[in-house]
Amino acid sequence: MNNIDFDAIDLTKEAPVTEPERQYYYIAKARKYVSEKAQEIGRNLTFCVTTFGCQMNARDSEKLVGVLELIGYKEEPDEEKADFVIYNTCTVRENANLRVYGRLGQLGAKKKKNPHMFIGLCGCMMQEPTVVEKIKKSYRFVDLIFGTHNIYKFAELIVTRFESERMVIDIWKDTDKIVEDLPSERKFSFKSGVNIMFGCNNFCSYCIVPYVRGRERSRNPKDIIREIEGLVADGVVEVMLLGQNVNSYGKNLEEPMTFAQLLQEIEKIEGLERIRFMTSHPKDLSDELIDVMAHSKKICKHLHLPVQSGSSRILQKMNRHYTKEHYLEVVRKIREAVPDISLTTDIIVGFPGETEEDFQDTLDIVRQVRYDSAFTFIYSKRTGTPAAAMEDQVPDDVVKDRFDRLLKEVQQISAEVCSVHQGTTQDVLVESVNDHDPSLMTGRMSNNLLVHFPGDESMIGKIVTVYLKEAKGFYYMGELCK
Ligand code: 5AD
Ligand code: SF4
Repeated sequence: MNNIDFDAIDLTKEAPVTEPERQYYYIAKARKYVSEKAQEIGRNLTFCVTTFGCQMNARDSEKLVGVLELIGYKEEPDEEKADFVIYNTCTVRENANLRVYGRLGQLGAKKKKNPHMFIGLCGCMMQEPTVVEKIKKSYRFVDLIFGTHNIYKFAELIVTRFESERMVIDIWKDTDKIVEDLPSERKFSFKSGVNIMFGCNNFCSYCIVPYVRGRERSRNPKDIIREIEGLVADGVVEVMLLGQNVNSYGKNLEEPMTFAQLLQEIEKIEGLERIRFMTSHPKDLSDELIDVMAHSKKICKHLHLPVQSGSSRILQKMNRHYTKEHYLEVVRKIREAVPDISLTTDIIVGFPGETEEDFQDTLDIVRQVRYDSAFTFIYSKRTGTPAAAMEDQVPDDVVKDRFDRLLKEVQQISAEVCSVHQGTTQDVLVESVNDHDPSLMTGRMSNNLLVHFPGDESMIGKIVTVYLKEAKGFYYMGELCK
């Protein structure tokens, strides 16, 4: 991908039909339009991509930025000043949608003052037909709408917009296609997300993801390895393997392969220092994976294992395919194999039909597992999911009360659990200058905790040894070991 000469692409010819060549053609064409427009207005055009939601979206945004920079747009952090504003949206909970509508209203006013401005919307929210209808009706100033399945066509869609004066909408219901070798621009020079699979087949009864991200598709292991080798050659030392349920990786490949086997292949890549992954579904977490984690030198000592609820009754209604006991057994096995592993989770409070007794089971599992951290969510009704049609929705005040009690428990336990490393030395990947004090650097340990310590910018991207002087609840203050 790196060595393509876009200027040499003959735009007098028809666009190729195969990918990624077709997109290279449209990148070349978009470059021409952007440069013409820049000349016309006498300055560079700028863009701002705002990402809502999960790491999968963050990675998708890097692909958008890759295309935008290649076609000649310059990054502008201030959305209000940018000529091309893109919202990469999330729809996993209702409030994510509401935030997008709120901000879109403000953008409309800005667009009136900047006639060159484009507004693009993409991501999970756009896969919902009611959302697109609403935008067509109430936010007619939007220029471009596309979904999660055709993000690889971004350059082509931009060209379509340049060549027409109307809103361009391209949403696909699903796809079995994976297009390789497209541009992307990493946010960090030293670490990167790497998609290993797309979509989800689990249909947890509360979750909209399978409807907006489509069926599970795994990338070919060769393509994954090639991408990581390229990243390492470019200075990356840590990768985060991304998938909605990484534990079911490889099931529908022509030559099936397990996630554990993929990890072993990635481990062999020279120069790669750390491997992370998310998200793991407890029902698919195999003994083989636990064994690979126990013997790996590169896989980080952190497992994100969403429990969602501690009540086996609710877990069944959630269609999670495990019980409280099974989950605890998985936790026992992983801790036995990797004693110092950090465990984090996601928990939903107020799922339809949740009683105080069910909630007590959730508190109980939190007390038994003692998570390093937990993301707690209030159940959000997503139209079209089975849970939205369930009758016994829990009243808001009851949910709020349970949520507060859970949060208190989770925070107290996590402060205790996180502080046990005080007085130890740890390998730390230096990520940035501290936000509040420029004499300090911020680094991440294998277990995903952060530590701040005196240092300088030259350390960014390096793995250094740090003494953990003082636990501060969810992070540490430390000192560099010479
Ligand atoms: N309501 C609340 N939380 C949800 N999640 C997914 N769907 C919903 C919903 N409808 C949470 C789950 C998942 C995390 C990414 O978001 O806990 O693990
Ligand atoms: Fe949603 Fe369940 Fe798939 Fe996770 S595993 S994305 S919670 S359906």
